[in-house]
Amino acid sequence: MSIESFDLYNPPSDFINNVYKYYNLLREKSPIHKNSDGSYILTRYKDLVGVYRNFKVWSSDKRTEFREKFGSSPLFEHHTTSVVFVDPPDHTRIRKIFQQAFTPKSILGLERNINKLVDSYLVMMHAKKKFDFVSDFSFRLPVDVVCSVLGVPSEDRHLIRDWAHKILGALEPKLTHKQFDEGSTAVINFKQYLKDQIKFRKTHKDINKANEVLSLLIEAEGLELSETELLHQCIFMLNAGHETSTNMLSHGLNELINHKDQYKLLQKEPGRIDTAIDEILRFQPPIQINNRRCLEKTKIGNVVVPEGTSVHMIIAGANRDPLQFFKPETFDISRSPNRHLSFGLGIHICAGINLARVEAKVAFQSLMSSFREINLIKKPKIANRIRFREIKEMQIEISSY
Ligand code: HEM
Repeated sequence: MSIESFDLYNPPSDFINNVYKYYNLLREKSPIHKNSDGSYILTRYKDLVGVYRNFKVWSSDKRTEFREKFGSSPLFEHHTTSVVFVDPPDHTRIRKIFQQAFTPKSILGLERNINKLVDSYLVMMHAKKKFDFVSDFSFRLPVDVVCSVLGVPSEDRHLIRDWAHKILGALEPKLTHKQFDEGSTAVINFKQYLKDQIKFRKTHKDINKANEVLSLLIEAEGLELSETELLHQCIFMLNAGHETSTNMLSHGLNELINHKDQYKLLQKEPGRIDTAIDEILRFQPPIQINNRRCLEKTKIGNVVVPEGTSVHMIIAGANRDPLQFFKPETFDISRSPNRHLSFGLGIHICAGINLARVEAKVAFQSLMSSFREINLIKKPKIANRIRFREIKEMQIEISSY
Protein backbone atom coordinates (compact mmCIF):
# COMPACT_ATOMS: atom_id res chain seq x y z
CA MET A 1 0.00 0.00 0.00
CA SER A 2 1.33 3.46 -0.79
CA ILE A 3 0.94 5.90 2.09
CA GLU A 4 -0.87 8.36 -0.21
CA SER A 5 -3.91 6.05 -0.16
CA PHE A 6 -3.89 5.55 3.62
CA ASP A 7 -7.42 5.56 5.09
CA LEU A 8 -7.98 5.80 8.85
CA TYR A 9 -11.41 4.20 8.45
CA ASN A 10 -9.93 1.24 6.68
CA PRO A 11 -6.29 0.96 7.77
CA PRO A 12 -3.88 -1.77 6.58
CA SER A 13 -4.18 -5.14 8.34
CA ASP A 14 -0.85 -4.71 10.17
CA PHE A 15 -1.73 -1.20 11.38
CA ILE A 16 -2.23 -1.83 15.12
CA ASN A 17 1.19 -3.43 15.47
CA ASN A 18 2.88 -0.68 13.44
CA VAL A 19 0.99 2.51 14.22
CA TYR A 20 4.11 4.61 14.69
CA LYS A 21 5.59 3.42 11.39
CA TYR A 22 2.44 4.49 9.53
CA TYR A 23 2.13 7.82 11.34
CA ASN A 24 5.82 8.58 10.67
CA LEU A 25 5.29 7.82 6.99
CA LEU A 26 2.25 10.07 6.87
CA ARG A 27 4.17 12.91 8.53
CA GLU A 28 7.07 12.53 6.07
CA LYS A 29 5.11 11.97 2.85
CA SER A 30 1.61 13.33 3.40
CA PRO A 31 1.48 15.51 6.53
CA ILE A 32 -1.89 17.07 5.69
CA HIS A 33 -3.45 13.88 4.45
CA LYS A 34 -6.91 13.74 2.93
CA ASN A 35 -8.89 10.76 4.23
CA SER A 36 -11.51 8.89 2.17
CA ASP A 37 -14.39 10.96 3.64
CA GLY A 38 -12.80 14.38 3.04
CA SER A 39 -11.48 14.78 6.60
CA TYR A 40 -7.75 15.41 7.11
CA ILE A 41 -5.18 13.46 9.10
CA LEU A 42 -2.56 15.71 10.75
CA THR A 43 0.70 14.28 12.06
CA ARG A 44 3.06 17.28 12.34
CA TYR A 45 3.62 18.77 15.80
CA LYS A 46 3.24 22.36 14.58
CA ASP A 47 -0.07 21.63 12.83
CA LEU A 48 -1.57 20.04 15.95
CA VAL A 49 -0.45 22.95 18.13
CA GLY A 50 -1.99 25.41 15.64
CA VAL A 51 -5.36 23.64 15.76
CA TYR A 52 -5.42 23.16 19.57
CA ARG A 53 -4.66 26.84 20.15
CA ASN A 54 -7.17 28.25 17.69
CA PHE A 55 -10.33 27.09 19.50
CA LYS A 56 -12.46 29.85 17.97
CA VAL A 57 -11.96 28.36 14.51
CA TRP A 58 -11.41 24.72 15.46
CA SER A 59 -14.47 23.55 17.37
CA SER A 60 -14.75 20.57 19.75
CA ASP A 61 -18.54 20.52 19.38
CA LYS A 62 -19.39 17.16 17.85
CA ARG A 63 -23.14 17.58 17.24
CA THR A 64 -22.84 17.65 13.46
CA GLU A 65 -20.70 14.55 13.01
CA PHE A 66 -22.22 12.58 15.89
CA ARG A 67 -25.78 13.15 14.58
CA GLU A 68 -24.74 11.17 11.52
CA LYS A 69 -22.88 8.53 13.52
CA PHE A 70 -25.15 8.11 16.58
CA GLY A 71 -28.57 9.45 15.42
CA SER A 72 -30.60 10.52 18.47
CA SER A 73 -29.31 7.65 20.61
CA PRO A 74 -28.07 7.83 24.23
CA LEU A 75 -24.54 7.82 22.77
CA PHE A 76 -25.35 11.08 20.99
CA GLU A 77 -26.62 12.63 24.21
CA HIS A 78 -23.53 11.56 26.13
CA HIS A 79 -20.86 12.47 23.63
CA THR A 80 -22.34 15.87 22.87
CA THR A 81 -22.89 16.90 26.50
CA SER A 82 -19.59 15.97 28.16
CA VAL A 83 -17.17 18.83 28.80
CA VAL A 84 -14.61 17.65 26.28
CA PHE A 85 -17.00 17.93 23.34
CA VAL A 86 -18.49 21.38 23.95
CA ASP A 87 -17.25 24.87 23.06
CA PRO A 88 -17.24 28.08 25.13
CA PRO A 89 -19.26 29.51 26.81
CA ASP A 90 -20.71 26.13 27.96
CA HIS A 91 -17.24 24.64 28.15
CA THR A 92 -15.95 27.45 30.39
CA ARG A 93 -18.92 27.05 32.77
CA ILE A 94 -18.55 23.25 33.12
CA ARG A 95 -14.75 23.18 33.25
CA LYS A 96 -14.73 25.57 36.23
CA ILE A 97 -16.49 22.94 38.33
CA PHE A 98 -13.89 20.29 37.47
CA GLN A 99 -11.09 22.67 38.34
CA GLN A 100 -12.39 23.07 41.88
CA ALA A 101 -11.94 19.34 42.34
CA PHE A 102 -8.30 19.24 41.23
CA THR A 103 -6.66 21.84 43.45
CA PRO A 104 -3.13 21.09 44.78
CA LYS A 105 -4.69 20.47 48.23
CA SER A 106 -7.12 17.83 46.99
CA ILE A 107 -4.36 16.16 44.93
CA LEU A 108 -2.23 15.91 48.09
CA GLY A 109 -5.10 14.16 49.88
CA LEU A 110 -5.45 11.80 46.94
CA GLU A 111 -1.72 11.02 46.97
CA ARG A 112 -2.05 9.56 50.46
CA ASN A 113 -4.91 7.40 49.26
CA ILE A 114 -2.92 6.32 46.15
CA ASN A 115 0.03 5.28 48.33
CA LYS A 116 -2.24 3.10 50.46
CA LEU A 117 -3.84 1.50 47.41
CA VAL A 118 -0.47 0.75 45.79
CA ASP A 119 0.88 -0.76 49.03
CA SER A 120 -2.09 -3.11 49.15
CA TYR A 121 -1.51 -4.29 45.54
CA LEU A 122 2.21 -4.82 46.24
CA VAL A 123 1.42 -7.26 49.06
CA MET A 124 -0.62 -9.32 46.60
CA MET A 125 2.11 -9.08 43.94
CA HIS A 126 4.81 -10.32 46.34
CA ALA A 127 2.62 -13.30 47.15
CA LYS A 128 1.69 -14.18 43.56
CA LYS A 129 5.05 -13.59 41.76
CA LYS A 130 3.46 -14.21 38.33
CA PHE A 131 0.30 -12.36 37.30
CA ASP A 132 -1.44 -10.16 34.74
CA PHE A 133 -0.22 -6.62 35.46
CA VAL A 134 -3.30 -5.08 33.81
CA SER A 135 -5.98 -6.75 35.90
CA ASP A 136 -3.96 -6.78 39.14
CA PHE A 137 -2.45 -3.30 39.01
CA SER A 138 -2.77 -0.91 36.10
CA PHE A 139 -6.55 -1.22 35.82
CA ARG A 140 -7.21 -1.31 39.56
CA LEU A 141 -5.33 1.80 40.64
CA PRO A 142 -6.90 4.42 38.32
CA VAL A 143 -10.41 3.05 38.68
CA ASP A 144 -10.12 2.92 42.49
CA VAL A 145 -8.77 6.46 42.45
CA VAL A 146 -11.36 7.91 40.09
CA CYS A 147 -14.14 6.19 42.06
CA SER A 148 -12.86 7.88 45.20
CA VAL A 149 -12.51 11.23 43.38
CA LEU A 150 -16.08 11.00 42.23
CA GLY A 151 -17.27 9.44 45.46
CA VAL A 152 -18.75 6.18 44.10
CA PRO A 153 -18.05 2.73 45.60
CA SER A 154 -14.93 1.09 44.16
CA GLU A 155 -16.63 -2.34 44.47
CA ASP A 156 -18.49 -1.22 41.35
CA ARG A 157 -15.25 -0.90 39.38
CA HIS A 158 -16.02 -3.79 37.02
CA LEU A 159 -19.38 -2.30 36.07
CA ILE A 160 -17.72 1.05 35.45
CA ARG A 161 -14.90 -0.47 33.42
CA ASP A 162 -17.34 -2.34 31.22
CA TRP A 163 -19.52 0.71 30.59
CA ALA A 164 -16.50 2.94 29.96
CA HIS A 165 -15.09 0.48 27.47
CA LYS A 166 -18.33 0.37 25.52
CA ILE A 167 -19.00 4.12 25.59
CA LEU A 168 -15.45 5.06 24.57
CA GLY A 169 -15.30 2.14 22.13
CA ALA A 170 -18.07 3.87 20.17
CA LEU A 171 -15.61 6.70 19.43
CA GLU A 172 -13.46 4.48 17.22
CA PRO A 173 -13.31 5.83 13.64
CA LYS A 174 -15.28 2.83 12.33
CA LEU A 175 -18.35 1.77 14.35
CA THR A 176 -20.00 -1.68 14.11
CA HIS A 177 -23.70 -2.29 14.93
CA LYS A 178 -22.62 -4.29 17.96
CA GLN A 179 -20.43 -1.43 19.27
CA PHE A 180 -23.29 1.02 18.71
CA ASP A 181 -25.87 -1.12 20.56
CA GLU A 182 -23.52 -1.91 23.43
CA GLY A 183 -22.45 1.75 23.75
CA SER A 184 -26.07 2.97 23.86
CA THR A 185 -27.07 0.39 26.48
CA ALA A 186 -23.99 1.29 28.53
CA VAL A 187 -25.01 4.98 28.58
CA ILE A 188 -28.55 4.07 29.76
CA ASN A 189 -27.25 1.78 32.52
CA PHE A 190 -24.52 4.17 33.61
CA LYS A 191 -27.04 7.04 33.85
CA GLN A 192 -29.40 4.97 35.99
CA TYR A 193 -26.53 3.90 38.25
CA LEU A 194 -25.47 7.51 38.79
CA LYS A 195 -29.05 8.69 39.33
CA ASP A 196 -29.27 6.19 42.21
CA GLN A 197 -25.92 7.37 43.61
CA ILE A 198 -27.02 11.01 43.40
CA LYS A 199 -30.41 10.31 44.96
CA PHE A 200 -28.70 8.57 47.86
CA ARG A 201 -26.40 11.55 48.38
CA LYS A 202 -29.23 14.04 48.21
CA THR A 203 -31.07 12.16 50.96
CA HIS A 204 -27.91 11.59 53.05
CA LYS A 205 -26.44 15.08 53.06
CA ASP A 206 -23.96 14.16 55.82
CA ILE A 207 -21.88 12.03 53.39
CA ASN A 208 -21.31 14.89 50.93
CA LYS A 209 -17.67 15.80 51.31
CA ALA A 210 -16.16 19.14 50.35
CA ASN A 211 -14.21 18.98 47.08
CA GLU A 212 -15.50 15.54 46.20
CA VAL A 213 -16.50 15.89 42.59
CA LEU A 214 -19.91 14.30 42.93
CA SER A 215 -20.76 16.71 45.77
CA LEU A 216 -19.50 19.70 43.76
CA LEU A 217 -21.51 18.63 40.75
CA ILE A 218 -24.64 18.05 42.84
CA GLU A 219 -24.25 21.52 44.35
CA ALA A 220 -23.96 22.97 40.84
CA GLU A 221 -27.10 21.19 39.59
CA GLY A 222 -29.92 23.63 38.94
CA LEU A 223 -27.46 26.53 39.18
CA GLU A 224 -24.60 25.99 36.74
CA LEU A 225 -25.64 22.55 35.48
CA SER A 226 -28.80 20.78 34.28
CA GLU A 227 -29.49 17.22 35.48
CA THR A 228 -28.51 15.80 32.08
CA GLU A 229 -25.26 17.76 32.14
CA LEU A 230 -24.56 16.57 35.67
CA LEU A 231 -24.98 12.90 34.75
CA HIS A 232 -22.85 13.11 31.63
CA GLN A 233 -19.98 14.95 33.35
CA CYS A 234 -19.90 12.14 35.93
CA ILE A 235 -19.86 9.48 33.23
CA PHE A 236 -17.20 11.34 31.31
CA MET A 237 -14.95 11.72 34.30
CA LEU A 238 -15.25 8.10 35.35
CA ASN A 239 -14.35 7.12 31.78
CA ALA A 240 -11.64 9.74 31.14
CA GLY A 241 -9.99 9.17 34.47
CA HIS A 242 -9.26 5.50 34.27
CA GLU A 243 -8.75 4.04 30.76
CA THR A 244 -6.08 6.60 30.01
CA SER A 245 -4.18 6.17 33.27
CA THR A 246 -4.46 2.38 33.05
CA ASN A 247 -2.75 2.47 29.69
CA MET A 248 -0.11 4.94 30.87
CA LEU A 249 0.83 2.46 33.62
CA SER A 250 0.75 -0.65 31.39
CA HIS A 251 2.73 0.97 28.57
CA GLY A 252 5.11 2.58 31.03
CA LEU A 253 6.08 -0.70 32.61
CA ASN A 254 6.25 -2.40 29.22
CA GLU A 255 8.62 0.27 27.84
CA LEU A 256 10.81 0.14 30.95
CA ILE A 257 11.04 -3.66 30.65
CA ASN A 258 11.85 -3.33 26.93
CA HIS A 259 14.55 -0.73 27.66
CA LYS A 260 16.43 -2.34 30.52
CA ASP A 261 19.11 0.38 30.60
CA GLN A 262 16.39 2.96 31.28
CA TYR A 263 14.77 0.69 33.87
CA LYS A 264 18.10 0.33 35.75
CA LEU A 265 18.73 4.06 35.49
CA LEU A 266 15.36 4.87 37.07
CA GLN A 267 15.95 2.30 39.79
CA LYS A 268 19.36 3.80 40.56
CA GLU A 269 18.24 7.42 40.26
CA PRO A 270 14.58 7.68 41.33
CA GLY A 271 14.82 11.48 41.05
CA ARG A 272 14.37 11.01 37.30
CA ILE A 273 10.74 9.97 37.81
CA ASP A 274 9.14 13.18 36.49
CA THR A 275 10.99 13.17 33.17
CA ALA A 276 10.43 9.39 32.95
CA ILE A 277 6.66 9.86 33.20
CA ASP A 278 6.66 12.44 30.43
CA GLU A 279 8.74 10.18 28.23
CA ILE A 280 6.33 7.27 28.79
CA LEU A 281 3.45 9.56 27.82
CA ARG A 282 5.28 10.89 24.76
CA PHE A 283 6.34 7.47 23.55
CA GLN A 284 2.98 5.72 24.01
CA PRO A 285 0.18 8.30 24.21
CA PRO A 286 -2.87 6.57 25.77
CA ILE A 287 -5.15 8.80 23.65
CA GLN A 288 -3.67 8.69 20.17
CA ILE A 289 -6.11 10.94 18.33
CA ASN A 290 -8.09 14.11 19.10
CA ASN A 291 -10.57 15.69 16.67
CA ARG A 292 -11.75 19.16 15.72
CA ARG A 293 -13.98 20.70 13.02
CA CYS A 294 -13.48 24.15 11.56
CA LEU A 295 -16.24 26.75 11.80
CA GLU A 296 -14.94 28.78 8.85
CA LYS A 297 -12.70 28.41 5.80
CA THR A 298 -9.12 28.23 7.12
CA LYS A 299 -5.56 27.16 6.38
CA ILE A 300 -3.56 24.20 7.70
CA GLY A 301 0.03 24.75 6.61
CA ASN A 302 -0.35 25.62 2.92
CA VAL A 303 -3.66 23.84 2.47
CA VAL A 304 -6.89 25.84 2.46
CA VAL A 305 -9.82 23.83 3.84
CA PRO A 306 -13.52 24.77 3.63
CA GLU A 307 -15.82 25.45 6.61
CA GLY A 308 -16.94 22.21 8.24
CA THR A 309 -13.71 20.28 7.59
CA SER A 310 -12.88 17.70 10.26
CA VAL A 311 -9.34 16.88 11.33
CA HIS A 312 -7.88 13.85 13.06
CA MET A 313 -5.03 15.19 15.17
CA ILE A 314 -2.60 12.33 15.53
CA ILE A 315 -0.94 12.85 18.92
CA ALA A 316 0.95 9.61 18.33
CA GLY A 317 2.50 11.17 15.19
CA ALA A 318 3.20 14.65 16.58
CA ASN A 319 4.94 13.16 19.64
CA ARG A 320 7.53 11.62 17.30
CA ASP A 321 8.06 14.62 15.05
CA PRO A 322 11.85 15.06 14.61
CA LEU A 323 11.40 18.82 14.17
CA GLN A 324 10.23 18.95 17.80
CA PHE A 325 11.96 16.01 19.48
CA PHE A 326 15.63 15.04 19.23
CA LYS A 327 15.90 11.36 18.18
CA PRO A 328 12.15 10.80 18.66
CA GLU A 329 12.37 7.01 18.26
CA THR A 330 14.66 6.77 21.30
CA PHE A 331 12.98 6.08 24.65
CA ASP A 332 14.96 8.37 26.95
CA ILE A 333 13.67 8.82 30.52
CA SER A 334 15.92 11.88 30.97
CA ARG A 335 14.49 13.77 27.96
CA SER A 336 14.08 17.47 28.72
CA PRO A 337 12.40 19.56 27.49
CA ASN A 338 9.60 17.20 26.51
CA ARG A 339 6.55 19.14 25.37
CA HIS A 340 4.53 16.12 24.25
CA LEU A 341 0.87 16.49 23.38
CA SER A 342 -0.46 13.46 25.24
CA PHE A 343 -2.65 15.61 27.50
CA GLY A 344 -3.76 17.80 24.58
CA LEU A 345 -3.25 21.58 24.66
CA GLY A 346 -5.26 24.80 24.88
CA ILE A 347 -8.63 25.24 26.56
CA HIS A 348 -9.46 21.50 26.61
CA ILE A 349 -6.10 20.42 28.02
CA CYS A 350 -6.65 17.45 30.31
CA ALA A 351 -8.19 18.49 33.64
CA GLY A 352 -6.72 15.43 35.36
CA ILE A 353 -3.03 15.99 34.48
CA ASN A 354 -1.85 16.39 38.07
CA LEU A 355 -3.81 13.39 39.22
CA ALA A 356 -2.49 11.21 36.39
CA ARG A 357 1.08 12.30 37.17
CA VAL A 358 0.71 11.46 40.88
CA GLU A 359 -0.70 8.03 40.01
CA ALA A 360 2.26 7.36 37.75
CA LYS A 361 4.80 8.67 40.25
CA VAL A 362 3.57 6.56 43.15
CA ALA A 363 3.11 3.49 40.95
CA PHE A 364 6.52 3.51 39.23
CA GLN A 365 8.49 4.55 42.32
CA SER A 366 6.89 1.72 44.29
CA LEU A 367 7.40 -0.86 41.53
CA MET A 368 11.04 0.13 40.98
CA SER A 369 11.91 0.08 44.67
CA SER A 370 9.91 -3.03 45.65
CA PHE A 371 11.15 -5.48 43.04
CA ARG A 372 14.71 -6.22 41.95
CA GLU A 373 13.50 -7.12 38.48
CA ILE A 374 10.26 -7.33 36.51
CA ASN A 375 10.12 -9.41 33.33
CA LEU A 376 7.52 -10.22 30.72
CA ILE A 377 6.33 -13.81 30.59
CA LYS A 378 5.00 -13.25 27.09
CA LYS A 379 4.46 -10.40 24.66
CA PRO A 380 1.63 -8.08 25.87
CA LYS A 381 -1.63 -8.14 23.91
CA ILE A 382 -2.48 -4.84 22.22
CA ALA A 383 -6.22 -4.21 21.69
CA ASN A 384 -7.53 -3.64 18.17
CA ARG A 385 -8.39 0.03 18.81
CA ILE A 386 -7.13 3.12 17.03
CA ARG A 387 -8.13 6.04 19.25
CA PHE A 388 -6.98 4.49 22.53
CA ARG A 389 -3.71 2.57 22.72
CA GLU A 390 -4.71 -0.24 25.04
CA ILE A 391 -2.71 -3.15 26.46
CA LYS A 392 -5.32 -5.84 27.12
CA GLU A 393 -3.13 -8.30 28.97
CA MET A 394 0.45 -8.24 30.21
CA GLN A 395 1.71 -11.34 32.03
CA ILE A 396 4.74 -10.50 34.16
CA GLU A 397 7.05 -12.18 36.64
CA ILE A 398 8.66 -10.32 39.54
CA SER A 399 11.89 -11.01 41.43
CA SER A 400 11.87 -9.62 44.95
CA TYR A 401 15.00 -8.31 46.69
C1 HEM B 1 -2.47 9.46 31.48
C2 HEM B 1 -3.70 9.83 31.72
C3 HEM B 1 -4.50 10.79 30.89
C4 HEM B 1 -4.33 11.17 29.57
C5 HEM B 1 -3.26 10.71 28.60
C6 HEM B 1 -5.39 12.12 29.28
C7 HEM B 1 -5.54 12.76 28.05
C8 HEM B 1 -6.46 13.75 27.80
C9 HEM B 1 -6.55 14.51 26.57
C10 HEM B 1 -5.66 14.30 25.34
C11 HEM B 1 -7.55 15.42 26.71
C12 HEM B 1 -7.93 16.51 25.70
C13 HEM B 1 -9.02 16.11 24.74
C14 HEM B 1 -9.26 17.16 23.66
O1 HEM B 1 -8.65 18.23 23.63
O2 HEM B 1 -10.10 16.90 22.78
C15 HEM B 1 -8.13 15.22 28.03
C16 HEM B 1 -9.20 15.93 28.54
C17 HEM B 1 -9.74 15.69 29.79
N1 HEM B 1 -9.28 14.83 30.75
FE1 HEM B 1 -7.67 13.63 30.62
N2 HEM B 1 -6.18 12.28 30.40
C18 HEM B 1 -5.66 11.51 31.41
C19 HEM B 1 -6.14 11.37 32.69
C20 HEM B 1 -7.23 12.02 33.20
C21 HEM B 1 -7.72 11.89 34.55
C22 HEM B 1 -7.08 11.01 35.64
C23 HEM B 1 -8.84 12.68 34.65
C24 HEM B 1 -9.74 12.92 35.81
C25 HEM B 1 -9.97 12.11 36.79
C26 HEM B 1 -9.02 13.33 33.36
C27 HEM B 1 -10.01 14.21 33.05
C28 HEM B 1 -10.10 14.92 31.87
C29 HEM B 1 -11.13 15.92 31.61
C30 HEM B 1 -12.24 16.35 32.57
C31 HEM B 1 -10.90 16.39 30.30
C32 HEM B 1 -11.73 17.41 29.54
C33 HEM B 1 -11.12 18.78 29.69
C34 HEM B 1 -11.85 19.83 28.87
O3 HEM B 1 -12.51 19.53 27.88
O4 HEM B 1 -11.72 21.00 29.26
N3 HEM B 1 -8.02 12.90 32.50
N4 HEM B 1 -7.43 14.21 28.68
